[in-house]
Order: sequence, then structure tokens, then C-alpha cells
Amino acid sequence: MTLELSVPRVGADTPRTATPCTFLMCPPTYFDVVYTINPWMDLTVPVDTARAVEQWEALRRTYERHGHTVHVVDPQPGLPDMVYAANGGIVVGGRALAPRFTHAERQAEGPVFSRWFDDAARAGVLGPDGVSVGQADELNEGEGDLLLAGDLLLAGTGFRTSRAAHAELGRRLRLGEQGITVVTLELVDPRYYHLDTALTVLAPGLVAYLPEAFSRESLDTLRDLFPDAILADPDDAAALGLNAVSDGRHVYLNAAATGMHARLRERGFEPVGIEIDEILKGGGSVKCCTLTLRPTQHPVVEPTSLVAEPTSPVVEPTSPVVEPVETTQRWNVVSTGPTTGGVVSTGSTTPRRAAR
Ligand code: ARG
Repeated sequence: MTLELSVPRVGADTPRTATPCTFLMCPPTYFDVVYTINPWMDLTVPVDTARAVEQWEALRRTYERHGHTVHVVDPQPGLPDMVYAANGGIVVGGRALAPRFTHAERQAEGPVFSRWFDDAARAGVLGPDGVSVGQADELNEGEGDLLLAGDLLLAGTGFRTSRAAHAELGRRLRLGEQGITVVTLELVDPRYYHLDTALTVLAPGLVAYLPEAFSRESLDTLRDLFPDAILADPDDAAALGLNAVSDGRHVYLNAAATGMHARLRERGFEPVGIEIDEILKGGGSVKCCTLTLRPTQHPVVEPTSLVAEPTSPVVEPTSPVVEPVETTQRWNVVSTGPTTGGVVSTGSTTPRRAAR
């Protein structure tokens, strides 16, 4: 009898497969820094809008060269941050939810993205049964704070998107029906004010993050969920090296985030460096410029990689939406049950993920 040992391969020779993606982007036609709503925005540093447009065009061409599809939303005068299209909402399983911005300066973007989703749904861009469900009721800055990692929707809070918005997501996006659980993560460093500046999803069960950007409790959650995560250091994060887009093999990120490039190569990914310093002046990089559209025909839920202990979450379909209170509860999990707005409690043990 042969004994087969299954040893997780997480080195530079780990095979990585690219999947074609569909993105939404917005050209920086009106990009500028005329207000300060994050610590990166310095009113004394001039912005070269033409250069921002060139850098953005290069990013778009890079995606297309790698086989990805890019849709474009028309930029609007007076909305200089529209280039950060990741904040334009979130699309899961063909259901598109438009954002509600925290700061007055960006609030008018919400309806613009909402209308784009309406048109996209009609045109079939969101897939055969794709639907635009309108704007969020709660403060919700889209994929800036909401990152899908397999069957987990990692949801940032602390600076922009509210906890109430995390609860709203389950209902509006029908996450329960799609087998997706929302995991709340609290951000504590104002420089990393959106989740996508502090964490990047590289593959369904693999993320990279800056530990210092998270509260103690959220850090415990991340360690439990992603034991093989790439841990970034403050230099990687300061170059916005975590503000990256992965297609499963290629990782598109700031060319200047060289430390992060090395960490990615060590795990078998191919970093694709993007010159983006002009767009960086508003406090965002590659991921901020990129919203992932997940049309209905694309598989949303990966074959589950959770080795559950217990085997499945305990669903209490009739309970109201509340934060779990058990002292042994390590996640702030807010989700819908399969058909109702109930809470999914993960019980006293945290499910473990297979090594990646
Ligand atoms: N100036 C923009 C803001 O503060 C930058 C947004 C960056 N977007 C992102 N997805 N992190 O809102």
C-alpha cells in the first residue's frame, strides 16, 4: 500500500491559472486633487491630468492584452475621484449594487454608477439574468471595502463603509442564496481607509494584507481564515502595493511596489508593474481604478475549500440581524440565511481553509 502525503505547495513553483475577467473602469478625464478626504491627498502637489490619462490608458491596454474585457463608464465633470471605479459598487452573481459615499464630495457618483448598472443590465453585460438593484441605503463604498474571496465577502469598515452596510449586502445581493458569507474586518489606520488599500485577494483562499492596518479582533479573524496569507510590510503598503488586481496568475500593481512584487513571485504569481504615480495622488492605485463585474454566467462560488469544523454554519433563519455576541465567536459575521435576513453564526470554532 502506498501512502500518499498531501503537502501543500505554496512556493514559487505553485501553478497559478489566469481566469478572464470583466472590469469596469472610468477614465481620469476630470481627475484632480481639489479636496482632501484621505491622508494621501495633498492640495499643494499639482496633478497632471493628461499624464493620469496616459497611465490609465496603459492600465486598460494591459488588461486587454492579458485577455480581460474592460467596460467604461463616462467620467463626469466635477467628480474628480470617479477614476476610482472600484468604489462604483459591487457585482456578485450578476446583481449590481451601486454605492452610497461617505463624503459629500463623492456622493453624486452613486447615481451615475447606478444608471450605468441599469444600462448594463438591459444590455446583457451583467449576464442573462443580470440585474441592477439600485443604490445602497447604508454608507457603502463598493469594492473599495468589499472584496470577494471565494465564498467569503470580506467587508471593511472603520472609515467609509458602515457595519450596517455589511448587513444590507446579504439582502440586496442575495448572498445567502449564492452561498456567500460576509466577514466584517475593521480598519484602524487612516492611511489604509479602504479595505483594498490594506488587503488584496490573490486567489479564492489566498490573500495578502498589512497586519497593522486591522484591529486586534479582525487580525485574529484573518489569521484563522487565511493561515497562508502573504504578510505585507509597511513599505509594501505605503507604495499601495496591496491595491492590486489578481486574475489568479498575473497580479497588476504599482510598478514601484517592488517589495510586493518579490513576495508575489515567491508564491508563484507574475507581478505586472503599472506606472500609476499620477493617479496615486488621490490615494488610490490599480485596484481602485478597477471594478470587477461578475455576470451571471460566470461561476460565482468556487467548489468549497472550507474544511469545516463544524461542517456548516448554524443558520438561524428567524433571528433578526444582530452582531454575534458569543464570547468564543471570533468573526463578526453578518449574512443572510438562504431565504431570510437571519444571521449566520459560525459557532465557537472558526472554519479552516485548505492551504494555498
Ligand atoms: N480620493 C478617493 C477617496 O478618498 C480615493 C479612492 C480610492 N479608492 C479605493 N478603492 N481605495 O475616496
